Amino acid sequence: SNQFHGRSLLAESDLTPAELNYLVDYGLHLKAEAQQNIHTPLLAGKNIALLFEKGSTRTRSAFTTAAFELGANPVFLGKDDIHLFYKESLEDTAKVLGRMYDAIEYRGFKQETVEDLAKYSGVPVWNGLTDDWHPTQTIPDLMTIKENFGTFEGIKLTYLGDARNNVAHSLLVGAAMVGLNVAMVAPEDLQPAFGVVELAQQYAEESGAKIEVTEDLAEGLAKANVVTTDVWVSMGEDKWAERIKALLPYQLNQAALEKTGNIDGKLIVLHCLPAFHDLETKVGQKIYAEFGLKELEITDEVFRSKYGRQFDEAENRKHGIKAIMAATLGSQFIPKI
Ligand code: CP
Ligand code: NVA
Repeated sequence: SNQFHGRSLLAESDLTPAELNYLVDYGLHLKAEAQQNIHTPLLAGKNIALLFEKGSTRTRSAFTTAAFELGANPVFLGKDDIHLFYKESLEDTAKVLGRMYDAIEYRGFKQETVEDLAKYSGVPVWNGLTDDWHPTQTIPDLMTIKENFGTFEGIKLTYLGDARNNVAHSLLVGAAMVGLNVAMVAPEDLQPAFGVVELAQQYAEESGAKIEVTEDLAEGLAKANVVTTDVWVSMGEDKWAERIKALLPYQLNQAALEKTGNIDGKLIVLHCLPAFHDLETKVGQKIYAEFGLKELEITDEVFRSKYGRQFDEAENRKHGIKAIMAATLGSQFIPKI
């Protein structure tokens, strides 16, 4: 049987911890198959709408290429291409898409939008990032950790920086579910929301994960095996001066890596990307002109170091998303892994 069949993935908490673990393993299984050039058309004949209210490189590409390899037809519907929010309501759009597509991916602002899409469309909906959660990032991130360490048990992940955003919240909850020890290190105002910490603590009681939320870099980084961060200003925000001032001490740099005590041991660096580690971009030039900084949440040195696994992580978006789509939209049977 397939307990995922017909379900949506709007947040990590839509899954049981066992189901989250399964999707991580299923993603790695599909990756191993893809590396042998095995692409099973588990979604042959399915139509998938890819709705984007915000920009994307990885999520859009992962859904598109994964859908193609599963035999499905992905259709990109960008915010400027369709009537949504401009002259057609979410409810009507969802009802129409539900009549034509077998499933919908949505990236945008409000969590409520992705929930309403699921409610009115009647087909599985996948959250490709909202202001609140990023579950199609969590699964590939956990895949990358498992790929490197073979287990979550006894492994510690430390997140530095804006620990109150979608990626941070999702990673905290996901880690707690699978029993990965996790430290969220940020100034008080940018620590995870109270309700999210509470939810993570509930999962941690079951999984045995140890959760730390702290302002103290030495404490949070001690014994970390995975150090990660995310942009300081997320899509839809514009608080550069304020965030740079608050978060510069929480930059993922060589000094931070040294605080893990694992420089010569088990240590990797992740970043969901895009990352602000050089001056090449338009935003990079603007930040340099205004603040005189060439790198923000991660230094170029750490980004290019032997610890960096961010491009494996990006690749894993594709395989993880494949697992999510195949499980929820595929056949009545899923493999035992
Ligand atoms: N990590 C991530 O979601 O990347 P994109 O914004 O490029 O999709
Ligand atoms: N927190 C970032 C993640 C981008 C993948 C944002 O929401 O912009």
